[in-house]
Parts: sequence; structure tokens; C-alpha cells
Amino acid sequence: MSATEAMNTNAAAAPESTPQVGRVPGVRIVGTGSALPSRTVTNDDLAQIVDTSDEWISTRTGIRSRRYCDREQGESELTLARDAARRALEASGHTADEVGICLVASFTPAAATPSTACLLQRELGLAEDTLCLDVNAACAGFVYALYVAASLLEHTPQPLALVVGAEELSRVMDFSDRSTCVLFGDGAGAAVLERAADAPALTATWGSRGNDEALFAPGVGSVDEAGEPRPSYLTMDGRAVFRFATEVLPKCTSEVLQAAGVDASDVDRFVFHQANKRIVDVAVRKLGLDPARCAGNIDHTGNTSAASVPILLDELVRTGALVTPARVVMAGFGAGLTWASCLVEVASS
Ligand code: COA
Repeated sequence: MSATEAMNTNAAAAPESTPQVGRVPGVRIVGTGSALPSRTVTNDDLAQIVDTSDEWISTRTGIRSRRYCDREQGESELTLARDAARRALEASGHTADEVGICLVASFTPAAATPSTACLLQRELGLAEDTLCLDVNAACAGFVYALYVAASLLEHTPQPLALVVGAEELSRVMDFSDRSTCVLFGDGAGAAVLERAADAPALTATWGSRGNDEALFAPGVGSVDEAGEPRPSYLTMDGRAVFRFATEVLPKCTSEVLQAAGVDASDVDRFVFHQANKRIVDVAVRKLGLDPARCAGNIDHTGNTSAASVPILLDELVRTGALVTPARVVMAGFGAGLTWASCLVEVASS
């Protein structure tokens, strides 16, 4: 057998890679909240700035409008995070002093340090022994943070974790690039996660694939390998990201169902990251899901990255589209590249 034949034989025999699975017993979501900034920007508004149209944007993405922070009104990623978190706490019926963990998923925090989570400690009056940190897994960030918080809850004295997704993407967008500036919006969503002996397990799967070409957003003084400054705004290879998203979204969704031993028909709602309605449509088709249980809200939010999953979850709860207690699958994917899914119970307070 030649070396090449041997390699091919080995490749064919290689086992399918098994995803890592996380399972945290006894946790559930007991409150949700969200906050969208005041400024609504329609597709027609953007057509005044770049060569685009409502028809192109809505048919290619499902987006009709998005919200941007109004800095003159004092709106920012932090104020959105604070408002969403307050609403989630209020909905949960719990108080700030019961929170032991505060995680904020974001790739557009106002500062590298202090973290938004740390500033929330002050804004919400959380106890000083609250474990506060930001999580950067871009659009998969909220689902990552939910799993991290659930895992930490097993070991903290306080029974509650506050998990927030908050973004101010309008700060990193290039408003001369029609292929990116029409896609994103600002917003925040939050969930209160509770440890309770009678709660079911939270099951999660995740993945990452280092790639700074498909999707890139600047950090403080970002430079490339030659030491040259990198663009101060978000850049993206839209087609590459579309291919990646339609690969990983159905994959991580079916993996989490399999890991939990749950049939898709027993899930009340699928809350998918809202990047593009066409991406969700492809995943729904590949998975053979009922589209009514996967409906999104991208038409009025655009892609709010780490905030999109908790904003959609909160809208479903507040409009009564999700009747609690409910079994919910959430999945996110995005820059990094990263992806993650989880199955969790969402209960009323
Ligand atoms: N308005 C009008 N035309 C536009 C446009 C806009 N806003 N943006 C791009 N175009 C043009 C392109 O220049 C191109 O023109 P050409 O054919 O003359 O070169 C044409 O539309 C098609 O571009 P293409 O990039 O192939 O479009 P698409 O169908 O792939 O849709 C995206 C573009 C960005 C909507 C799509 O690729 C996408 O959603 N990708 C994933 C992005 C994403 O979700 N990112 C975040 C992940 S968390």
C-alpha cells in the first residue's frame, strides 16, 4: 500500500469527531429582560447614505429596521446592559443582593477595562463579592456565558447568576461599506439563571475555529502581523460567514438535542442568533423543524450579536409567544469563529 493510500485509508477510518458536551444539573432561567436604544434606522434611511435599497436588504437578510444608541441621550452599551439586567431581575422577582455572578457577553464594551460586568456591579448595586466578568465570544457570546454561569453556579454560595448580552455595534461599523453597515444594530438582553434542586439540567455544546479574515472587529490599537494598523471598523467576508453559519447552526443544534437525549418535537422554542433570516431558514430546513417554533425578530433589530438571543427570548416571553415553563434551545454563531448551543428550561418567577 502506498503512503497516499495508507493516508486515505486512515482518513476514511477516522472516527467522527465527538463534540464536547456540558451538562449542569439543576439550573433554569427565571427572568428575562431586554433594552433597545431609542433611535430607529430604517433601510430607507441607510439608502440615503450608501448605494442600497429596502428591497435588497429585506430580501437578502429579512431586516427592515434596526436601533442605534443615541449618544446625545446618554445611551451606550452599558446603559442598555443595565436596563436589560434590571428588567430581568424584576421579572424574576429576585433582588440584586441574591446575585453571585454577573457575566456580560459583548465584543463592543465601552472600555477594555473596567469590564461592563464590573460597571454593572455599581449600576445595579450588586454585592462586592459578586463574580463579574465580560465574555467575548462575539455572536455566540450569550450562549457561552450562559453555560459558564451555570457551571460557576454549582460552586458559588449565592443561587443566582445574571447573564447579559449587550452590544453597541454602531460604534464599529463602516458607514461607507454597504455590505456590512446594513446588517447590524445595537441592543441588550439579559437572563437570570437560578440554581434549584428541582430544575432540569442545562445541556450545552460549543466550538471555535480561529479566523480573523471572515469577520474582524478592532480592539485597542489593533495591528496586523506586519505591525500595520488594522481597520478601525468591522470587516467581513459575507459569503464565507454565510457558509460557516449554515454549517454550524444546524450542526450544533442537532448536537445539543442528541446530547440531551431530547427530540426536536419536545422543544417548545428554538431561539437562534438573528444574523440573517436566510441563515435561520437554511438551518430550519436542514433540521426539519417547524418554522413557527423558530420565528425570529431580525426585521426590527438587525444583527445585535451577543444581544440577539436574549433579546429574542425576552420578546417571546413578554408577548406570550413562549408559555413558561418551557424547554428552549438557544444557538449562536459568529466571529472568532465561534458557535454554541444550549438546552435550558425557561420558567416564570
Ligand atoms: N445593497 C445593495 N447591494 C449590495 C449590498 C447592499 N447593502 N451589499 C452587497 N451588495 C451587492 C454586492 O456588491 C454584490 O454586487 P455584485 O454582484 O455586483 O458584485 C451583490 O450585492 C451580491 O453580493 P453578495 O455578497 O454575493 O450577496 P449575498 O447574497 O451573499 O448577501 C450578505 C450578502 C452579507 C447579506 C450575506 O452574505 C450574509 O448574510 N452573510 C452572513 C453575514 C453575517 O451574518 N454576519 C454576521 C455573522 S454573526
